[in-house]
Amino acid sequence: MLAKEFVSECRNRKDYTIIAPEEEECDITDISSIRNAVNSINPQVLINCAAYTDVDACEANHEKAFEINGEALKNLMQVCKENDILLVHFSTDFVFDGKKESPYTEEDKPSPLSIYGASKLLGEQYLLNSDTRFFLIRTSWMYGNGGNNFVKAVINKTFNQSEIRIVDDQIGNPTWVKDIVDTSLRLLGTEEYGIYNYSNEGDCSWYEFACEIIKILQNSKNKFRNTKVIPIKSAQLKRAAKRPAYSALSKCKIEAAIGIKTPHWKESLERFLIGGNR
Ligand SMILES: NC(=O)c1ccc[n+]([C@@H]2O[C@H](COP(=O)([O-])OP(=O)(O)OC[C@H]3O[C@@H](n4cnc5c(N)ncnc54)[C@H](OP(=O)(O)O)[C@@H]3O)[C@@H](O)[C@H]2O)c1
Repeated sequence: MLAKEFVSECRNRKDYTIIAPEEEECDITDISSIRNAVNSINPQVLINCAAYTDVDACEANHEKAFEINGEALKNLMQVCKENDILLVHFSTDFVFDGKKESPYTEEDKPSPLSIYGASKLLGEQYLLNSDTRFFLIRTSWMYGNGGNNFVKAVINKTFNQSEIRIVDDQIGNPTWVKDIVDTSLRLLGTEEYGIYNYSNEGDCSWYEFACEIIKILQNSKNKFRNTKVIPIKSAQLKRAAKRPAYSALSKCKIEAAIGIKTPHWKESLERFLIGGNR
């Protein structure tokens, strides 16, 4: 999802040339594969969007999760260092345990509840302890045009279900992938390297997020189905991986670094759903 958005955004801008190798051309768990790709492309910046993102599947596939989300960072860091390339990497709100009651800052101590979160934290730690030039951007609850995501899932469900059940006991920040790409591109125009949080402004539960998706579509398309959203508890879903109950991210650091005001999640969701961006 994120890689596709970088490609479509950079191809619209004259100041960037972006090349996105397929996984067969650049497997991040294989350093020689990264070296080959880097040698043929000769980039100034390497944006790593590759990850093992199936949070529940990670629970049954520890090795794969740690290899792709953790150990592969050593390969990327090594090749970037050899070639003096700026590395941009993404992590997740799932590195936190959700016990806090105010937005997580870059200073807060991670304590992941899942294998996915732990494997992403390992990648973060390699990067934070390295002397590579990097931007590490933690984000959350991403949706957009590419890949599977919550917004698409809710819309698809409304086609054949008159009611849908969505959890109301996990609170976070929905984030439009286009906002992540725009903000990342601004950040990488600076030399303020390091770790940053970025997500859309405003907290909500997945239940509130689903209600808002349906409300926006009903207001814009009269015939959009009147699907009822029923709040449920996470325990009822019996998912393999535990999720944090609260994982909103503080954006103070990134806003100060690049002088932006983060859009509210409802505003971005509306732009995505009815602004011709979908
Ligand atoms: N999605 C979210 O809500 C969310 C939230 C917070 C943070 N993030 C982070 O944001 C980043 C991008 O997420 P996303 O949702 O765009 O992920 P995505 O849609 O799942 O894309 C990840 C891509 O990485 C590829 N990949 C897996 N193993 C690879 C390897 N060894 N070498 C090269 N490519 C490999 C996957 O290919 P296959 O599909 O073939 O496996 C997939 O195309 C990730 O770092 C993720 O942890 C995402």
